[in-house]
Amino acid sequence: MRHFTSVNDIGDLKAAVREALDIKADRFKYNHLGRNKTLMMVFFNSSLRTRLSTQKAALNLGMNVIVLDINQGAWKLETERGVIMDGDRPEHILEAIPVMGSYCDVIGVRSFARFENKSDDYNEVILNQFIKYSGRPVFSMEAATRHPLQSFADLITIEEHKRVERPKVVLTWAPHPKALPQAVPNSFAEWMNAADYDFVITHPKGYELDPAFVGNARVEYDQMKAFEGAHFIYAKNWAAYSDENYGKVLCSDRDWTVSDRQMAVTDNAFFMHCLPVRRNMIVTDDVIESPNSLVIPEAANREISATVVLKRILESL
Ligand code: CP
Repeated sequence: MRHFTSVNDIGDLKAAVREALDIKADRFKYNHLGRNKTLMMVFFNSSLRTRLSTQKAALNLGMNVIVLDINQGAWKLETERGVIMDGDRPEHILEAIPVMGSYCDVIGVRSFARFENKSDDYNEVILNQFIKYSGRPVFSMEAATRHPLQSFADLITIEEHKRVERPKVVLTWAPHPKALPQAVPNSFAEWMNAADYDFVITHPKGYELDPAFVGNARVEYDQMKAFEGAHFIYAKNWAAYSDENYGKVLCSDRDWTVSDRQMAVTDNAFFMHCLPVRRNMIVTDDVIESPNSLVIPEAANREISATVVLKRILESL
């Protein structure tokens, strides 16, 4: 694997999960692979889990790690070509990226949707510039449209906990005070479709995701109906995707907050969320603290998904 930006880069999902569980049983098994290799993690946005789990994964593989927070201590970067740089951004990303590439062997990038220009977001302008100009393998640590390390960890978690071969998995929108990107739900949908689960998406009208990610999923606007008989509930907020309302918050109805009321109609479903989560907006205290909550094992599996991805990239160097 050279780059990792979506489910398409991971190949056979069953093999990937087997590899993940093998690594989970002995996470230092491939410690020799990263000797004298350096990972650079570049963050345009904040992180707790991605930062820590990816660094831990690199250490599992014997790599050295450098972390750059673009907005804390680095020069502000201009990202548009052709701009007269007379403002507050003294460095252009077209010089910065190859310079970063000269100091490392592999680059991880976190760059969220900015909601300024839908086309720039959905063309992954920042991530693709790293792929084009760094000269290094690049992996996404959450980009504008996808969060594949999270989705891979979600898949591992579902495979570890499922009680039936083809579980019913429900992705539900839930309220949030700020506009959030569609990367997590897009990516989750892409991976659930690839895994061929019984996959349902539920959200208020106006929150339809890009059809390219919805794929063969069933869309059900009645949340209670969507939850009936579910084995896994995956909650997430996202802002509107449509051209007319791109990046807007259209609904704040707390009837959509996941609570015991909805969980009662599931088949004793597990609750999942990528974290960080706003309690009593996305999910009630009772549900997230219940024995069926998988949020901690799901976050712990981020170390495993990142170890698999970095291992495969190192093997390709
Ligand atoms: N789930 C996730 O990516 O968490 P962070 O934003 O804290 O990295």
